[in-house]
Amino acid sequence: MNTPLIAPSILSADFGRLAQQITEITEAGADWVHLDVMDGHFVPNLTFGPPLIKAVRGASALPYDAHLMIENPDQWVGQFRDAGADSITIHAEATHHLHRSVQVVKATGALVGVSLNPHTPLNVLDYVLDELDLVLLMTVNPGFGGQSFIESAVPKIAELRESIERRGLEVDIQVDGGINTRTVFAAANAGANVFVAGSAVFKNPPYADAIEALRAGAKKGMAAK
Ligand code: DX5
Ligand code: ZN
Repeated sequence: MNTPLIAPSILSADFGRLAQQITEITEAGADWVHLDVMDGHFVPNLTFGPPLIKAVRGASALPYDAHLMIENPDQWVGQFRDAGADSITIHAEATHHLHRSVQVVKATGALVGVSLNPHTPLNVLDYVLDELDLVLLMTVNPGFGGQSFIESAVPKIAELRESIERRGLEVDIQVDGGINTRTVFAAANAGANVFVAGSAVFKNPPYADAIEALRAGAKKGMAAK
């Protein structure tokens, strides 16, 4: 948990040569491959589903981290697991029965994450936190890459880290949206340890330098605690 993990989001990659882009970020030192799945209902954008993930699964041996911004996640998680997702994160706001949805993900054998939108209070996690591998705190409103980091996420990250530690759990805190070499410091300092970055990697080549700069910023933030 003290080693920052950098998870480039392929949302900002060139989809015309997606497999190659995933190989490039792998060679550039990425830790996870972050896959933003959007259904046009839960968020106002559409991306891709299991067939695409399956098609690019062979491009890297890194963990594939599926962030499902979709309604009715229970109906789909099996297909994402079969396509090659190692971790599957669902949104608390996208299911009426969060505890059940968490069990559905766990039953696939994937690591399980729950994501919260910027306005969603942490207390929705109170009775599921001990079941989770990861909490994804959105640092933008989900739907699009290239947005600005929402600063009110910083005390929220700190509060969640405090609650994880108080309960003696080991849960990753992932942040997603507007992460760059400046904001990564504040997020890491508050207690995040997994950092999703779309634009800050894919719009900022060479990728190895971009990933290393994020990792260095995160390490500084963690060390400054
Ligand atoms: C937003 C997605 C993010 C997005 C991040 O809905 O979940 O993963 O791609 O993009 P940047 O890093 O450009 O904010
Ligand atoms: Zn994401």
